[in-house]
Amino acid sequence: MATLAIVGAQWGDEGKGKITDFLAARANMVVRYQGGANAGHTVVFRGATFRLHLVPSGIFYPGTICLLGNGVVVDPEELLAEIEELERRGVDTRSFFISDRAQVIMPYHKEQDRLEEELRGERRIGTTGRGIGPCYADKVARYGIRMIDLLDREALSEALDRVLPIKNRWLRQVFNHPGFEKKALLEQYLEYGERLRGRIVDTVTLVNEAAEAGKRILFEGAQGTLLDIDHGTYPFVTSSSPTAGGVCVGAGLGPTRLNKVLGVAKAYTTRVGEGPFPSEERGPLGDHLRTRGQEFGTTTGRPRRCGWFDAVVGRFAVRVNGITGLAITKLDVLDGLEKVKICVGYRYGGQTRRTLPTDLRLLAESQPLYEELPGWESTAGARSYNELPAAARRYLEAISELCGAPLALVSVGYDREETIVVNPDLLF
Ligand code: GDP
Ligand code: IMO
Ligand code: MG
Repeated sequence: MATLAIVGAQWGDEGKGKITDFLAARANMVVRYQGGANAGHTVVFRGATFRLHLVPSGIFYPGTICLLGNGVVVDPEELLAEIEELERRGVDTRSFFISDRAQVIMPYHKEQDRLEEELRGERRIGTTGRGIGPCYADKVARYGIRMIDLLDREALSEALDRVLPIKNRWLRQVFNHPGFEKKALLEQYLEYGERLRGRIVDTVTLVNEAAEAGKRILFEGAQGTLLDIDHGTYPFVTSSSPTAGGVCVGAGLGPTRLNKVLGVAKAYTTRVGEGPFPSEERGPLGDHLRTRGQEFGTTTGRPRRCGWFDAVVGRFAVRVNGITGLAITKLDVLDGLEKVKICVGYRYGGQTRRTLPTDLRLLAESQPLYEELPGWESTAGARSYNELPAAARRYLEAISELCGAPLALVSVGYDREETIVVNPDLLF
């Protein structure tokens, strides 16, 4: 058995899609376990760029089984469009399946997401508007709709009767919204169910049978540790558990069966949406990183906030995920800088600390403490660790040391080929 989870160690967009695609060359199965179309995972190879939101980043290897686990929230409309687009571009999606237990994003979730953000005004979270939070809230409130319900008229009718009276009363009274009509939803979502019928299966059995047969399984995280509903910078988080524990719940794999956890982090830090970010650079350096790193959201196109690598965040991610190896991406974006900095601690409440405060007010006022290292000319063309400039290696080693996890992989460009395996034992 070889199971490996790929998790974001920062605020998302760490390059999980690229790393998943790279490692999927050796995988039998690739499984998303949480999140939904709020994710935007970019995969680039042979001159083609793909931006995936729901379909796992293992889809480019024919025969590799790709699954959306029970912990994912699925927007059937978005998913069908994504499958269609992939097929149009010549990608075979026949080995892609969806958990019958996965929750369905409904039009009222997206409407609710928009209305709530609007009402929050200055206090908005900066969500992706994909209905993620409202869908997970309905799941926990026990009136969510599951993929299996889309396969049966009676089941879907019953599920809608459970949710609509509450949802509509709430929409009308709180937001003066006309609400949603059952008949239209019923017909539309039965049609989506028909189009997805052959793909809606019991993924928990598939995952466990594969694990028992010793197959190689990759779990592809979406979002990142600091966006985790429990461990992130609450309330500026997403509504699922991107951390490694989420794999067990969101894919139905027992914790004793997860072998390794690869934490993906950029060589610097970015964040999209609101919320504190201590090492943020609002001046020319931030602009430089944004331009060089093309830091604009894959899902919403919003400019990403940029800053130096934060090892306080990195160390926290290593702990809560049990990270066994680090994949550092976008090292090339730091090429040509005279000096590079790593945030090694914060000053807040009159003290110097090396842990993340729970109190967001303290996090917002935290002054980063930096360690400065010499920069390097270029990482271009490096395909082995020793081909990297000595200063770049020193920088990576400092990150590994400060975060408390060994280096497994380094990425020096967006292309599949621009990847350096540092320690194969930490991968599979
Ligand atoms: P994800 O959400 O974690 O999959 O990351 P995104 O795809 O949203 O954002 C990462 C962006 O960086 C994408 O545009 C990737 O093509 C790009 N990328 C990934 N790795 C590298 C790298 O090593 N160097 C450069 N320059 N770009 C990279
Ligand atoms: P990937 O998988 C970066 C952020 C949003 C917002 C917060 C809540 O590409 O790394 P949500 O729509 O989930 O309710 O938004 O989380 N966010 C992401 N930021 N990468 C993502 O996914 C994200 N998914 C959500 O910007 O701040
Ligand atoms: Mg992304």
